[in-house]
Amino acid sequence: MSLRLGDTAPNFKAKTSAGEIDFYEFLGDSWGILFSHPADYTPVCTTELGKTAALKDEFAKRNVKVLALSVDTLESHKGWIPDINETQHVQVEFPIIADDDRKVSSLYDFIHPNASATATVRSLVVIGPDKLVKLIITYPASTGRNFAEVLRVVDSLQLTSSYGVATPVDWKDGEDVIVVPATSTEDAIKKFPKGVKVVKPYLRYTPQPNK
Ligand code: BEZ
Repeated sequence: MSLRLGDTAPNFKAKTSAGEIDFYEFLGDSWGILFSHPADYTPVCTTELGKTAALKDEFAKRNVKVLALSVDTLESHKGWIPDINETQHVQVEFPIIADDDRKVSSLYDFIHPNASATATVRSLVVIGPDKLVKLIITYPASTGRNFAEVLRVVDSLQLTSSYGVATPVDWKDGEDVIVVPATSTEDAIKKFPKGVKVVKPYLRYTPQPNK
């Protein structure tokens, strides 16, 4: 099944390195990130899962729960985690799904048969507290993801959700944000007391509301 932005993220039960989970129960009211990696005991994946563990406090600050997934077995995940901890100087505590029956991979379209018939690609899905899909990114097996970019998108999504603003190209936390076209300038001036800069009637900025 292909999954698109705005779809409801499918629920599932799965075995993970942290025990059996029901996805929705695991998420509760939090934001979620579910990401696939091609295989255990591979170099790029080792660095990615290490970085995810290192960013534990950044995810917690944003109320994001993280899960990884590959089609490897639970025994494989459990054997690999100490290597990640040792080589990346972290403690992997987030669950890694053992999707050896490919149930979750097929729900989330993590196997792209023309890239690999058997392994999951590097896909990452951000899910909102409403269980809707907010972001889907897919990288090839040979390119490790940029988790700073993942956090940047989460920050942008959370600003949209809380304040109804958008973020411009290359936006970074603390920089001005964009008043969305659906908000009139008159309403924006009332809504954003830090001020509204009108560059064009359709291009309006306001300081980041939560700073
Ligand atoms: C890796 O994680 O290093 C990797 C996995 C599959 C193909 C290429 C690289």
